[in-house]
Amino acid sequence: MSYYVTTPIYYVNDAPHIGHGYTTVMGDIITRWHRQRGEDVWYLTGTDEHGQKVLRKAEQNGVSPQEWVDRLVEDEWKPVLAKLDIANDDFIRTTDPRHEAGAQAFWTDVHERGEVYKGSFSGWYSVGSEEFVAEDDVTDGEGDDEGHKVSALDGSRLEHMTEENYFFPLSAYRDRLLELYRERPDFIQPASARNEIISFVERGLRDLSISRSTFDWGIPLPWDPSHVMYVWIEALLNYVTAAGYGVDDEQFERLWPADVHIVGKDIARFHAVIWPAMLMAAGRPVPHRVFAHGWLLVGGQKMSKSKANGIRPDELVDVFGSDAYRYYFARALTFGADGSISWEDIRARYHAELANGFGNLASRVSGMIGKYFGGELPAAGALDAAEETFVATVAEATTAADGAMDQLAPQDALTQVWRIVDDLNGYLTEQAPWQVAKDDAQRERLATILATAAEGLRVLAVLLNPVMPKACASLWESLGAEPTLGALADQRIADAATWGQLAPGSTITKVPSLFPRIEEEKPE
Ligand code: MSP
Repeated sequence: MSYYVTTPIYYVNDAPHIGHGYTTVMGDIITRWHRQRGEDVWYLTGTDEHGQKVLRKAEQNGVSPQEWVDRLVEDEWKPVLAKLDIANDDFIRTTDPRHEAGAQAFWTDVHERGEVYKGSFSGWYSVGSEEFVAEDDVTDGEGDDEGHKVSALDGSRLEHMTEENYFFPLSAYRDRLLELYRERPDFIQPASARNEIISFVERGLRDLSISRSTFDWGIPLPWDPSHVMYVWIEALLNYVTAAGYGVDDEQFERLWPADVHIVGKDIARFHAVIWPAMLMAAGRPVPHRVFAHGWLLVGGQKMSKSKANGIRPDELVDVFGSDAYRYYFARALTFGADGSISWEDIRARYHAELANGFGNLASRVSGMIGKYFGGELPAAGALDAAEETFVATVAEATTAADGAMDQLAPQDALTQVWRIVDDLNGYLTEQAPWQVAKDDAQRERLATILATAAEGLRVLAVLLNPVMPKACASLWESLGAEPTLGALADQRIADAATWGQLAPGSTITKVPSLFPRIEEEKPE
C-alpha cells in the first residue's frame, strides 16, 4: 500500500514566493512523517506550464514560451525545492512528453465514451486564474481595474471571449458529485471547504469548455489538433500522468488513487468538482481526499506576486535557515485556515522555541554528559517518579502527535512534541544535575538523570526529523546513535517512545549550536 501525496503544480509565469513554499513544505513534512512510519510514500510536485498566463509572460519577455518555462523551471522552481529541503519523489512538468502523451490518452478515452461535445462559448475569462467566470461573479473593477470587469471570486481582471470550443458535460455530474461528498465525508477537508463546495454544486453546474482555439501554447486535442486543451483540464491530469497513466500500468496501479491532494483553497473547486467528474467520466477511481489549506496573509492581505507583498523563500531561509522556515510554517499556522505571518513572529519563535527551547536543551544535555562522564553515555540506574512521569508524557505525546498527522494537523503534532521539549526542560530544572554532580555519592543518580535526558533527545530527533531534518541529523550524530540504532530516517515513529534505546557507552559529542542567535533586522 502506498501513500501518494501531491501539491498543486505551480504556474511558471513567475518565481516562487512563500505561498507556494507553504504548500510544498507542509506536504513534505507530512510525507516525511509517513516515511518514518515505514510507509511506501510517493510525494509529487511540479509545474503547470501551458495556458495564456504563461504564454503572455513569455511574450512580454520576448522569448518563446518553451524557452521561458525551461528557464524558470531550472533557475527558479527546482532550486527552491533544494533550498527548502524538499524530499519529493518526482517532479512533473506539463511539457514532459509523458504528461502530453498521458493527457491525450485520457481525453481520447473520454471523447470515445461520448463525454465531449462541440459548442460555442461566449463569456468572461480570467487569464490571471485561467478560469471561466459566470455572469453572477462578474463585477466592475475599481482603482487600477477601473473600466474593466473583474472576478468577484478573486478580483482578477476579466476578458470577454467568444470561441468555438469543445465541452465536457459537467452539469450532468451534479448528483454523482453530491453523492460522493455524502458517502465520503472526508473527501474534501476541512469542513469549511467541504461546505463551500457542496453548496456550490447544489446550486447547479455549468458545462465546461475544455479547449481553446485562439492560441496554441497547450496540448492539442487528439481528435481536433486545431484546438489545445483548456489548461486546467490538462493540468489536473498531472496527478495521473506522473503516476504512470497510460505508460506504466504497474506503477499506476500502485499509486492511484492518490491519498491526498494538498491545494490552496483558491483552487479547491477545480480539485473537488471538475477533477472527480473527469475521473468518473473516464471510469477511474477518484482520489481519497482533497485538503484545502488557507492563505498566508501578510499585513492582513493574501500574499501574492501581483500585490507586491510576495516574499521569496530565500529571503527567510537565508536568515533563519531551512529548518526554522519549515518549523515556523508548520507550527505558527493552523493547516486549513488562513494565517498571518510576520518577520517579528518568525524571529520571536525562532529565539523562544528553537534557540532557547530545543537547541539549548540539546547542547546543555550533551555538554553535561561531556563534562561529567567524559562524553560517554552513562547507564541509567533505577527510575524515580520524576523519570516515570517524563517517560509517560513522551509515550502519550508521541501517540497524540501521530494521530494529529493523520488528521493533517502538523501544528497539533508539534504542540505535542513540544510537551516533550518543555517537560524535559522542566525535568532538568527540577533535578538540577549540576547540583547532583557536586556529590560523589550521587553518581548513579546523576547518570540516571542524564541518560533520561539523552533518551528524551533521541525521541525528539526522531519526531522532529520530518520537520527539521538538518538539526535532527546533527543531533543524531552528537548522540552517537547511528552505530547501534542505524540511520535516523530508519527510526520508526511507532517505536520512538520505547525507552532505553541509546546504548550506554555510546560517544556523545556536544551538539553544535543548532539555532544561533539572529541579530539581523528585518530587511526594508
Ligand atoms: N497551476 C495552478 C494549479 C494547478 S494544480 C493541477 C495554480 N498554480 S499557482 O502557481 O497559482 O499556485 C497556486 C497554489 O499556490 C495555491 O493553491 C496554494 O497552494 C499556493 N499559494 C499561492 N499563494 C498562496 C498564499 N498567499 N497562501 C497560501 N498558499 C498560496 O493555481
